[in-house]
Amino acid sequence: MAQQGTQQKGGNSSATLMEKLVSLCKRRGFVFQSSEIYGGLNGAWDYGPLGVELLRNLKAEWWKEMTYRENIEGIDAAILMHPRVWEASGHVENFTDPMVDCKQCKSRYRLDILLEGYSEKNRRKIAEELANFINTNSENPNLFKGFLDELISVDPRFASTLSTKEIVDILLDLSKQIDWMVEKFSTLLFKKEFSKIALPFLLCPNCGNKGTFTEARKFNLMFKTYVGPVEDTGAVVYLRPETAQGIFVNFLNVQAGSRQKVPFGIAQIGKAFRNEINTKNFLFRTREFEQMEMQFFVKPGTDVEWFEYWRAQRMQWFINLGMAKEKLQWHQHPPDKLAHYAKDAYDIEYAFPFGWGEIEGVHNRTDFDLSRHEQFSGKSLKYFDETTKEKYTPYIIETSAGASRSFMAFLVNAYAEEEAPTGEGGVETRVVLRFHPKLAPVKAAIFPLVNRDGMPEISKKIEADLRPHFRVFYDDSGAVGRRYRRQDEAGTPFCITVDSQTLQDQTVTIRERDSMKQERIAAEAIAKYVGERI
Ligand code: GAP
Repeated sequence: MAQQGTQQKGGNSSATLMEKLVSLCKRRGFVFQSSEIYGGLNGAWDYGPLGVELLRNLKAEWWKEMTYRENIEGIDAAILMHPRVWEASGHVENFTDPMVDCKQCKSRYRLDILLEGYSEKNRRKIAEELANFINTNSENPNLFKGFLDELISVDPRFASTLSTKEIVDILLDLSKQIDWMVEKFSTLLFKKEFSKIALPFLLCPNCGNKGTFTEARKFNLMFKTYVGPVEDTGAVVYLRPETAQGIFVNFLNVQAGSRQKVPFGIAQIGKAFRNEINTKNFLFRTREFEQMEMQFFVKPGTDVEWFEYWRAQRMQWFINLGMAKEKLQWHQHPPDKLAHYAKDAYDIEYAFPFGWGEIEGVHNRTDFDLSRHEQFSGKSLKYFDETTKEKYTPYIIETSAGASRSFMAFLVNAYAEEEAPTGEGGVETRVVLRFHPKLAPVKAAIFPLVNRDGMPEISKKIEADLRPHFRVFYDDSGAVGRRYRRQDEAGTPFCITVDSQTLQDQTVTIRERDSMKQERIAAEAIAKYVGERI
């Protein structure tokens, strides 16, 4: 995680940068709070006119990248699925977060990330208090029954300890390592014996009281609802928490219909829902979001090779769409944090203003999914290889990106504040969204320099000619400098101005957003010029 409050572009602190982005999104119609006039609904956001264009462009780029290949087919599965799907997938049992409530102020926290929000001083204090407690109560063996086993399960160093003093010394030493405190200590807090002893030392980040947390409980993140008018258990359905299952259960349908042969993939874009305990950081963790997932079915034994292939492909996709390389990194899931289905898993992380955050996961899911659906449905999901006459359950390599999270990453990546010359010879700060032209919501803006001498008529004609090809915007109000600034803020890559010379020779100026350089080109060449650059 990046340090909170670090300086970002234009000297902004990370918190200020996020505030500016959220405010820009609202002001310019990228993203609004859901049901804002009723005070908003936590964890849900609405995409406005510019936002929906950006989101659709992003999804279109992903769709082209993934499905315009000979070995990938697309589908669009229903959000509601048979409830047994979620038993087979493991979601009913395992898709839970550990949660605690503060009995004093009623705030609710995900236990596994609670420590992330503590200052270094507080984390150390907790470990020290815990160590002192162990030390003072070392005579009471019953108190620590099971506790040591749990410590050993997350950190083998405890296995070689002989005395309470050694446990205390190791704990004190580890308390200075922030990663250990966030990763291992958090994991330990969800273990019964450890949390019984350690929870009383935790402070509520909201009211500051100590020892006010309830016991940790498992909280299933799936939204449950009912099919039909009667709310009984037989009618339970879930809003899908991932799009992947719609692909797995259709594996043989797609394979038969498209006559694909393994290795091949199935791609899908769609909404997913998770009842997240803590929604945070704008679009980063929401309760309703969109995923772009592709499941690639391979012969067992070739999975590692395909895993590496897809890792490379997916990282390159973000870079090709303008993401700064140094703002992207891989995070490999350590073996003890791997999801129940995964053999290996890597996240593509982006350096958000609040720290590194996952935008896409690439997972080697083995034959877990197809085997489980086979077991739960009683239907064979084996693949028959016509050439070798072999029958087997394919392994699956999954690429799972969040459309909404990527949207936010592309937005952060595009945001810049810089000094720009004014028409009067001074300088001013311009806010510019440097989107890749393929992603930009509006591709070109058309301005008549003045609202007379036939310039509006020519501009309107240019607008009408361009509209069938790209999303364009016509603006005739205010000084041209102001109009440029408005388009910079919307991320429009090209601004076309009709001026007095246009009346003479039918040429216009075309200004490129990032360099602010202007060229003169023939009005009739605009569509070709813009088309070649987006
Ligand atoms: N099928 C595998 C799967 O769903 P995941 O890591 O839970 O894996 C994949 O989710 C991607 O979905 C994440 O990388 C992230 O971009 C997005 N995502 C997950 N939960 C999200 C949430 N609450 N809000 C926004 N995006 C989310």
